[in-house]
Amino acid sequence: MRRAVIAGNWKMYKTAAEAVFLFQKIEDMVKEIDDVDIVVCPTFVALRGLSVVIDQDRPNIYLGAQNMHWEEEGAFTGEISPLMLRDLGCQFVILGHSERRQLFSETDEMVNKKVHSALSHSLSPILCVGETLELREADKTERVIESQVTAGLANIEEDQVSSIVMAYEPIWAIGTGRTATPEVAAETIKLIRKIIGDLYTADIAEKIRILYGGSVKPGNVDSLMSKDDIDGALVGGACLEPESFARIVKFTR
Ligand code: PGA
Repeated sequence: MRRAVIAGNWKMYKTAAEAVFLFQKIEDMVKEIDDVDIVVCPTFVALRGLSVVIDQDRPNIYLGAQNMHWEEEGAFTGEISPLMLRDLGCQFVILGHSERRQLFSETDEMVNKKVHSALSHSLSPILCVGETLELREADKTERVIESQVTAGLANIEEDQVSSIVMAYEPIWAIGTGRTATPEVAAETIKLIRKIIGDLYTADIAEKIRILYGGSVKPGNVDSLMSKDDIDGALVGGACLEPESFARIVKFTR
């Protein structure tokens, strides 16, 4: 049985002080939940503040970053390295989010370098893949997903791949209020599992956790999570309200 993961992608919201306030409210509201891995991914500048207040006795609440460079250090103005994220207590990092790919021109090759670097620094990548509406309507979803998964995982060894969390985020569902139906989400996640099975082994495909992301809200999380293949959610907008994020964490299957 794969353990569920609910990750909140705070994007470019909340000052450092607001982030601590939001985090403490969330932590308080999900106190009794111990069978879900909860990952909060604030902006870089809020990580230090959260690392100070995070309850070290809570083994299932993790800090994550939203991006990183693949090098440990260097002349890369404006970038943050995996060493710096580890130093702040991060255990996860979102990689290849569609906003990075579309707005900041991240390529599959860059994403793959980041995945290698994250793994070698003991950071678990939350590796995002997803198609545009145009590609879905042109019946090209399968082809795009296959190429993004294959490129993102290029040369990743078998013994490392299961610490990756995959996230299927159809671009047409992100921030639009338009959620993929549980059927569409589960079907594409099944496809991702099959691609991983073909690249590695059936056993690895069975073990790897694959999330759905795109307008996940308190009102649709239960039906999404009722699908066996969906192991959790990557939540944007709804993670900025403590009540709604806590309700998503408390999904029922
Ligand atoms: P959303 O964002 O929940 O606001 O659609 C999801 C994401 O971008 O990870």
